[in-house]
Amino acid sequence: MYNHDFSRAMSQAAGNNGISDPVFRRALQRAGEAAVTLAADKLAVIERCLNHSDLPLIEQTAKEITGRFSTVVVCGMGGSTLSGKMLCSLAHNPVTGLSGKVKLLFVDNIDPASIETLTASLDFSSTLFLMISKSGGTAETLAHMAIFWDAAGKALPAKTAQEHFIVITERTDNPLARIAAKHGIKQLEHQNNIGGRYAALTLVGLLPAAIAGLDIRAIRKGAVNVIEHFSRAGGDAPAVQGAALCHMMAEQGKGISVMYPYCDRLWNFALWHRQIWAESLGKQGKGITPAPALGSVDQHSQLQLYLDGPRDKFFTMLMLEQQNKGPVIKFGDDPALSYLDGHALGNLIDAHQLATMETLTQKQCPVRVFSLKTLDETALGELTMHFMLETILTGRLMQIDPFDQPAVEDGKKLAMARLKEQNNLVA
Ligand code: PA5
Repeated sequence: MYNHDFSRAMSQAAGNNGISDPVFRRALQRAGEAAVTLAADKLAVIERCLNHSDLPLIEQTAKEITGRFSTVVVCGMGGSTLSGKMLCSLAHNPVTGLSGKVKLLFVDNIDPASIETLTASLDFSSTLFLMISKSGGTAETLAHMAIFWDAAGKALPAKTAQEHFIVITERTDNPLARIAAKHGIKQLEHQNNIGGRYAALTLVGLLPAAIAGLDIRAIRKGAVNVIEHFSRAGGDAPAVQGAALCHMMAEQGKGISVMYPYCDRLWNFALWHRQIWAESLGKQGKGITPAPALGSVDQHSQLQLYLDGPRDKFFTMLMLEQQNKGPVIKFGDDPALSYLDGHALGNLIDAHQLATMETLTQKQCPVRVFSLKTLDETALGELTMHFMLETILTGRLMQIDPFDQPAVEDGKKLAMARLKEQNNLVA
């Protein structure tokens, strides 16, 4: 399992922020109690990970897709695409753009310019569209469905477009399911008791991951490692300690939580975490604002603010062991560059991540560290389940429901009303 070192943050919680040790211990005890209830609740997201009966269908579907298509366009909003994007970053590096046999594109916005450019660039004969919406009623995803269906119908031989679409949605009478049924499009079931942002370890995240060539059983194994350790370790489980820490930090004015990986392949993980954290915990006037950052990029962007700006942040660093990894930096004989000469590139990023951690600590900024020896499917599965559990437990400590998003629903209704009003004006 990943190593976690919360000692710096804990000593900050216990000391520098004026929180005495017993207070922190009490928070930990409350988080431990929340963990016991959570284990008894048999949450669907946990039960799903412990039962692998869904994996053969995902693997078989991925095999069929990769055997026939060279591009897969995944459409969906929020958790419906962030999950796959986060997992696929292991194979599909955001910098190099390299992926397995199949090119995976994630469409999670409705900017007309982007959609037009994408549509014009696609070879429809070798493209599959994977439309993901739990509710089947999200306007953006329905718009993607309509636009790509129309374009595919024009580009492909008559009556073949349906072979280029797969829909993942709940088994309810919803608009996306109706469209799929009408056109004879294959439908896969989105588990109805697992919400979008908690669906990363279901087919929502795992089908794109399998298409990208990742070992989805190893991803699940990572999740199971964390669940089993969580059941055994009780109050000592990292998720319990993490929830207590985050809650305490927020109560002490550290209302911004910076998720700070030093690894490109974990950038989409930080974005996935931003959504699960924000949408699960921001309600009833409460919340902790997530702020993703990337090392070493943000040393030249946000670090100045972190070190010298308001003391309102709590840092979570994700550090991958990078020593001796990558190409060697060679300059020849410039003595001014001898400190860098002959080092593997990994030594440079490693020196930076350690230096950032030390500087944050010296400046009394609370920081906790997750250290990864390797970044593979199991490690990513572990991180994913850890932060799901930590989010749910923090929600329980905050006494809010981490599974709903009432305010967002209000906004969706307003957008719909606006469009209806425009229709009436035109009519
Ligand atoms: O986490 C959530 O529940 C949301 O972010 C949803 O994923 C997002 O709103 C899309 O919803 P749906 O999958 O129903 O289209």
